[in-house]
Amino acid sequence: MVDVIRTEHLVLRPMSAGDRAEFVRIHTRGHDHFRPWLPKPPDGESAEQAFERELERSEGGHAAGTSERRVGFIADGRMAGIFGLSQIFRGPFLNCYAGWRVAADCLGRGLATEGVLALLDLAFAPEPFGLGLHRVQANVIPNNAPSLRVAEKVGFRREGLALRYLEIDGRWQDHVMFAKTAEEHTLRYLRG
Ligand SMILES: CC(C)(COP(=O)(O)OP(=O)(O)OC[C@H]1O[C@@H](n2cnc3c(N)ncnc32)[C@H](O)[C@@H]1OP(=O)(O)O)[C@@H](O)C(=O)NCCC(=O)NCCS
Repeated sequence: MVDVIRTEHLVLRPMSAGDRAEFVRIHTRGHDHFRPWLPKPPDGESAEQAFERELERSEGGHAAGTSERRVGFIADGRMAGIFGLSQIFRGPFLNCYAGWRVAADCLGRGLATEGVLALLDLAFAPEPFGLGLHRVQANVIPNNAPSLRVAEKVGFRREGLALRYLEIDGRWQDHVMFAKTAEEHTLRYLRG
C-alpha cells in the first residue's frame, strides 16, 4: 500500500516517533478546539502520553490490517491534521470508518477536504496502491457544522441519524451517519 500521499497542500504519511513535538503542540494549543467533537482521552493523560497511545495504535492497526492513519503536513513543516481509517472489515463487507481532525491554526483552507479525499483514495484504490475497500462510513455530531460540510464536500451520502451513538464530551450524542461506496468515488491522488 502507498505510504505517502501528496495532495495540493498536504504531504500525508504514517505517524512516526519524530512527530511527537508537533502532535503535542497541536493538541495542547487545540485542546478546546477538539474537546467537543472527539472521544475523551483517558483521565489525566498528558499530550505526550496521548502521542504514545496514538503511535502505538497507528502501528498496531497497520500491522493487524485493521486501521490506517496518515498525518498531514503543510509546506512550512507544521502538522496540519490527522486522518484515519478504522475498523477495517474484509470478506463480503469490505467496510471501514473514516475520522478526521485539523489543527486550530490551519482551519478554513480546505485541508480537511483534501485530507479526507486522500483517505478515501487510500480506502478505495485497488491493492497494491490502496486497501481495495467497497464502503467507507463516517459519523458526525449534528451541530458540528464544519465537519458536516467536509463530509458533504467529499461526497459522503447521508444515511440517517444514529441516536445516542457515541460518548463525546461526557454525553451520549446523536450522530449523522454518512457512507460512500467505491462506485461513488473518483480517485484523485492515487492510481486505480
Ligand atoms: C471539522 C474540521 C476537520 C474542518 O477542518 P477544515 O480544514 O477547516 O475544513 P475545510 O476547510 O476543508 O472545510 C470546512 C468547510 O466548513 C465550512 N464551515 C466552517 N465553519 C462553518 C460553520 N460554522 N457553519 C457552516 N459551515 C462552516 C467552511 O466554510 C468550509 O466549507 P466551504 O469550503 O464550502 O466554504 C476541523 O474544524 C476540526 O478538526 N474540528 C475539530 C475535530 C472534528 O470535529 N473532527 C471531526 C469529527 S466528525
